[in-house]
Formats: sequence, structure tokens, C-alpha cells
Amino acid sequence: MKPDVSNREDIEIVVRSFYEKVKADETIGFFFTEVIPVDWKKHLPLMCSFWENVLFFSGNYEGNPIATHRSINQQFPTKPEHFQKWMELFSTAVDDLFAGPNADKMKQHAASIAAVMMQKI
Ligand code: HEM
Repeated sequence: MKPDVSNREDIEIVVRSFYEKVKADETIGFFFTEVIPVDWKKHLPLMCSFWENVLFFSGNYEGNPIATHRSINQQFPTKPEHFQKWMELFSTAVDDLFAGPNADKMKQHAASIAAVMMQKI
């Protein structure tokens, strides 16, 4: 049986695996390499803090994802098919190694944020 996501180290495993998939993906990879050339040394720890806050209320994430994605959308429109691919890769990255309430919570939270982003940006 797969373990649940239980600490920041587990989150790091999911986040790293997710962005490896993203970078190699022809539908959304270019957002991270060309639209916004992401500084991975900053982005990976930031995303780990984001998820740590979601799962464990760590209080160490203070960003504004809606504002960030509104700005990305202005540079290159993020469409439903991009969000769909993002969700597919994220769910696979979680499900490959983890299972349980926290793994489910990550996927549900990502899906509800994606829905809000599609409406609001
Ligand atoms: C079309 C789908 C998406 C694309 C192309 C995308 C792209 C990006 C990019 C390029 C950044 C880095 C911005 C920078 O370094 O300045 C970013 C940041 C971020 N993304 Fe996404 N994203 C998508 C969907 C999502 C979804 C569904 C979530 C839900 C969890 C999410 C959560 C975040 C967060 C929390 C940040 C950091 C925001 C900050 O504090 O500035 N993204 N995204």
C-alpha cells in the first residue's frame, strides 16, 4: 500500500516529480520555460511551502496565486485545456507514489483553485 503525504519531504517528492512532467509536456511546458522562465531554485521551495500550508497549516506561504496567474494569462492566455493538462499531470504525480486523505486533499484543492482561476483571471 502507498503511504500518505505526511510531511514537507513528501510534498517535495510530489512537487519535483510534477514539474519534471510539466517541463517535458508539450501542452503546458512552455509556460514555465518561455512565457515565464521560472527560477526553479525559488519556485520549488515556494510551491512546497504553498502545499505545506494547505495540508499542515504551516503559515509559511504568503503569495497570491490568483494575481500571479492573472499576470501569466495576460502574457499568454491560459485556457481550459491547459488547466486540464496541469491537473492531469498533478494527479499523476500524487498518485504515482502516495494515497490517502492528504493525497486526496492536494488533488481536490488543486482542482478547486483551477476552477477559481479559470473564472477569475
Ligand atoms: C494553466 C495552468 C497553470 C499554469 C500554466 C501555471 C503556471 C505557473 C507559473 C509559470 C508560475 C510561476 C510564476 C513565477 O515564477 O513568477 C506559477 C506559480 C504558481 N502556481 Fe501555477 N499554473 C497553472 C495552474 C495552477 C494551479 C491549478 C494551481 C493550484 C494549486 C497553481 C498554483 C501555483 C502557485 C501557488 C504558484 C506560486 C504563486 C506565487 O506565490 O507567486 N497553478 N504557475
